[in-house]
Amino acid sequence: MPLLEIDGKPVDVPAGMNLIEAARLLNVEIPHYCYHAGLTVVGSCRMCQVEVEVGGRKSVAIACNTKAADGMKIITKSETVQKLRRSVLEFYLQHHPLDCPICDDAGECDLQNYYMEHGLHDSRMPLLEKKHKHKVMDVGPNIVLDSERCVVCTRCVRFCREITGTGELGVFGHGRDAELLNVRENP
Ligand code: SF4
Ligand code: FES
Repeated sequence: MPLLEIDGKPVDVPAGMNLIEAARLLNVEIPHYCYHAGLTVVGSCRMCQVEVEVGGRKSVAIACNTKAADGMKIITKSETVQKLRRSVLEFYLQHHPLDCPICDDAGECDLQNYYMEHGLHDSRMPLLEKKHKHKVMDVGPNIVLDSERCVVCTRCVRFCREITGTGELGVFGHGRDAELLNVRENP
C-alpha cells in the first residue's frame, strides 16, 4: 500500500488508487468536472490539477489520471494550483450564461461553487459576445438539454457508452463550438 502525504497529512492508500480518491480518504475534495469513479478517465477538464513532489522534483499533474505512489507529496491548495484552476474556470465562463438565479442548478452547481471559491467574482471579459448554442435540445425520451450550460465534461457520453451500452450521445465540434448531440440524429 503506497504511503503518501496530502496537504501535509500522511495517508496509506490501496495500490493503483488515483489522487482524487486518495485525497477523499482524508476528506479533501479536489475540484473536478470530467472525473467520475464509475467511468473511464479522460482527463479533459483540467480542473483537478495539483502539485506533486516525487524525490525532490516538483511538477503539476491532473489528480484524476495520476496514481498515488509511495513517498509522493501532494499539495492541493497552493497558489500555483489555485492560479491554474482560476484560468481553467475563466475559459469555462467565457461563453457560459451567467443568469444563475434562474437556473435550476443554482446553489448546487460546481461551476458556480468553484468560481466563488476561487475568488473570480468579477469577469475580466464582461463585454465579450457569448457563443450561443441550442437552448432546448431533445437528447432522449426523458431529457431535454440546455446546451449553453453544458461544460462538455463527457460524463453523460461515457455513461451511455460504458454503463448502458446504448451510446446515443456524442460531442460534435471543437473548442467553443463543441456541443453534445444525439448521434442517432447526427450520424
Ligand atoms: S450534458 Fe453531459 S457533457 Fe454536458 S455537462 Fe452534463 S454530463 Fe457533462
Ligand atoms: S477531473 Fe481530472 S482532468 Fe477532469
